[in-house]
Amino acid sequence: LSSKVGAKYRPNVDLSLLEGDEANFVLVDLEGTKVLQTMFRTEIPLQAIFKPPKPIRGGIPICFPQFGGHGNLDQHGFARNRVWSIDTDPPPFPTASANKAFVDLILKPSEEDLKIWPHSFEFRLRITLGPGGDLMLTSRIRNTDTKPFSFTFAYHTYFSVSDISEVRVEGLETLDYLDNLKEKERFTEQGDAITFESEVDKIYLSTPTKIAILDHEKKRTFVLRKDGLPDAGKFQLVWNPWEKKAKSMVDFGDDEYKHMLCVEAAAVEKAITLKSGEEWKGRLELSAVPSSYRSGQ
Ligand code: BG6
Repeated sequence: LSSKVGAKYRPNVDLSLLEGDEANFVLVDLEGTKVLQTMFRTEIPLQAIFKPPKPIRGGIPICFPQFGGHGNLDQHGFARNRVWSIDTDPPPFPTASANKAFVDLILKPSEEDLKIWPHSFEFRLRITLGPGGDLMLTSRIRNTDTKPFSFTFAYHTYFSVSDISEVRVEGLETLDYLDNLKEKERFTEQGDAITFESEVDKIYLSTPTKIAILDHEKKRTFVLRKDGLPDAGKFQLVWNPWEKKAKSMVDFGDDEYKHMLCVEAAAVEKAITLKSGEEWKGRLELSAVPSSYRSGQ
């Protein structure tokens, strides 16, 4: 892979691979050119801007070391704007990658990064494709500093859906959530599955490790499994900008909100703290199955 694309680029993963039988990494080089896009229909919005320093809207931007505006850094931290390198000599990963295609990436802070976030770290990301089109992302963040540091984190996963009004999310019902569009109070989700008819920007608390996004029109269900995110501060974020906000975003088509949904595995409420030498792991596994699937199965 590195011989094809050079050693440095900004990674993003196009989730439409969940529908098909080929891999799809979108690798973006320093000039903002898509250098490798094996396969399929893109789930990155048509208006997405690939030139740095703008983060790429779509796929799976990595939010680190800050989620959202919960801190002094720019929205969602700097990892999604940085150029990562291929990690040619990663330490052994806990999960077997036999019969799977994977790529290892690494991000270390630059001198400029250390000025805005003065903590030395190594962020290793393994992106793995299973034979059935499953996708796994494993993040390993190591404190290589002499002092402890804390961070928040999210896989900002954009899913492509046929029609947002017809989509249901199962696995979050009856949970408590915070609503970013309202005052900072806790709400409790009512009813059956989650459906969508206006802008949504919610942080669900203490979510299960497995949830499902049902897309009736495409007769498919995305299944999300997560692992390693700590018990306290385990969240699932659900976001759709809807019509008005979509129009205000330059890198998002006016109507694209109808065909997307972000469901993000994250650690936000309680920051993760690593002592010197410690490592944190957070894993997200995505698959697409026929729509008869129910999240309880
Ligand atoms: C979500 C946040 O995770 O990301 C929203 O909860 C935010 O508040 C959205 O609008 C998109 O963020 P950005 O920085 O990529 O436009």
